[in-house]
Formats: sequence, structure tokens, C-alpha cells
Amino acid sequence: MDKKNSAPAPKKVTTRSFQIKKQQKQPISMLTAYDYPTALAAEKAGIDSILVGDSLGMVVLGYDNTLPVTMADMIHHCKAVARGASTPLLIGDMPFMSYQSSVKKAVENAGRFLQEAGMDAVKLEGGRERADAITAMVQAGIPVIGHLGLTPQSVHAFGGFRAQGKTSDAAMRLIEDAHILQQAGAFGIVLEAVPAQLAGLISEQLEIPTIGIGAGANCDGQVLVTHDLIGQFDRFVPSFVRQYAQIHTIVLEAMQHYHQDVQDGKFPAEEHSIYMDDQEWNTLIKLLESRRDE
Ligand code: KIV
Repeated sequence: MDKKNSAPAPKKVTTRSFQIKKQQKQPISMLTAYDYPTALAAEKAGIDSILVGDSLGMVVLGYDNTLPVTMADMIHHCKAVARGASTPLLIGDMPFMSYQSSVKKAVENAGRFLQEAGMDAVKLEGGRERADAITAMVQAGIPVIGHLGLTPQSVHAFGGFRAQGKTSDAAMRLIEDAHILQQAGAFGIVLEAVPAQLAGLISEQLEIPTIGIGAGANCDGQVLVTHDLIGQFDRFVPSFVRQYAQIHTIVLEAMQHYHQDVQDGKFPAEEHSIYMDDQEWNTLIKLLESRRDE
């Protein structure tokens, strides 16, 4: 291709770009991806950041919650995403029990996301109780984004997937936690299922960007689970999701059509078949005949 006429390669999104976007009041877009083709599409769509979320456990692996997801699962899927996209900021989600038991284990596991899995940063859930781990990771050169509000790895502690920060006490604790994560060195914070006024207030107070999911319009960016957005997850649709497509229905109809075509002998058709040329075919028939006569 003529180099002069080709479009310039899009610029890699970094944690610094997140900071600049916040300062310039440009909203940050983030989506989840767990595989190569979705990563390719997200990059082509100009999405700023891809989160390889542990939501993988629910929307791809079929678990009831995110707790069974392992480091091995995450590394495997992060690698596929890293092969599909390089421009967006790639964030690997630390799974349950990969960072809670000790700071040392947290840093070692976080390092694997960068060293083995091709991620640019990691995400972990929790507030003040994670400050030491975040500080140690940042000191080791690993960018970290926090996650407050409805943190799905605490589903049992919360008694279900419930919105958080709805009382003044709970909201105050969340505000404090957000400041503690910023102080610990997080480059951003995901706010999930918290009241819009509270998310707006936290976003105003913090220097680092907030990325909302079910947290209203006043965050510095938005994230959605791609399977929700494209209608590929059929079990439920969270109330804060806008569905931009109904992929589950399209896939189902295509599979039903294929099944019917196989039943009716309509697939494969002539154009889907390959043939030996006549000479080879005739030689084979003769060979078979001569063997039969032996
Ligand atoms: O795992 C995930 O996809 C997440 C997002 C919902 C923020 O944590």
C-alpha cells in the first residue's frame, strides 16, 4: 500500500491517556472482551479500553457467579484478547483469591497479567482493605484500576447482586474508599451499581478517572459487558444495560436453519463439495476392482 495515502496507525491508549481524557472532559469508553474476534471488533470500533473481566465466568463459562474463575482461565483469555487488539488499554481482571490472601501473592499474580498475558494493567475489587496490595503493585510498575460499589466477588457477603452506597453511611464509606485507592496509586476506579449522584460526586472529587457501570452519566467513562450490550447472554439483562443488538436470537435462528437444512438434505450443496478428477477416480475404481478379484 502507498504509505503516503495510508491512514496513520491509531495511537496506543495508555493510563496517561485516561488522565488526559479526564482533564479534557472526554468520556472514556471501555468494553469487556474474552476472545480474539471480540478484541478485533472492539479495536476497530475505536473503544479506548478492553477489560478482560472475570464476568467471563458468567457470560462465557456458564457459572452462576464470578467466584470459580481461576488465574489459568484469566491468563488464557487475556492472551487471546492481546492477540486481537493492541491500541486499546488492555486490563486484566484479577480473579477471586488471586490477590486477597497476601500482598506478595497479589503482586506476583498481577505481574503474570503483564508478563505472560500481554495486558497493560490489572483491575481488582475492594476498598481500603486493598490499599497495601495496590501500593505494592504500583511500586512494582504494575498499573492498577480499582473497583468499588457492587463488587461481584463479594456476592455472598452482599447477600446477592445488589446496588451499593444507597445510605448516607454506606455512601460516605465509598467516598473514603475511593480516596484511599487514589492515594494508594490506582490510575482509575470502576464504580458499579452505585447511585448516580454519588458516582458524580466521587468523579468530581477525584483526580483519577471513574468508569461507571450502572452508576449514571456523570462518571468520566463507561464500561459494559459486551455480551449484555450485543444481547448474547440470555439469562438476564441488568437494568442499566442498553442492548444494541440481539445476537443470541440471530445465532439461534442460524443454528435452527442449519439443522433443518441437514435434515432436509439441503446442506451441503454442490458448491460446498470437492471432487477427485475423473482420471484419479477411475484409477481408484480399477484398483478396488483388481483387489476384489485377487
Ligand atoms: O468482570 C467484569 O466484567 C467487570 C465489569 C462489570 C466492570 O468487572
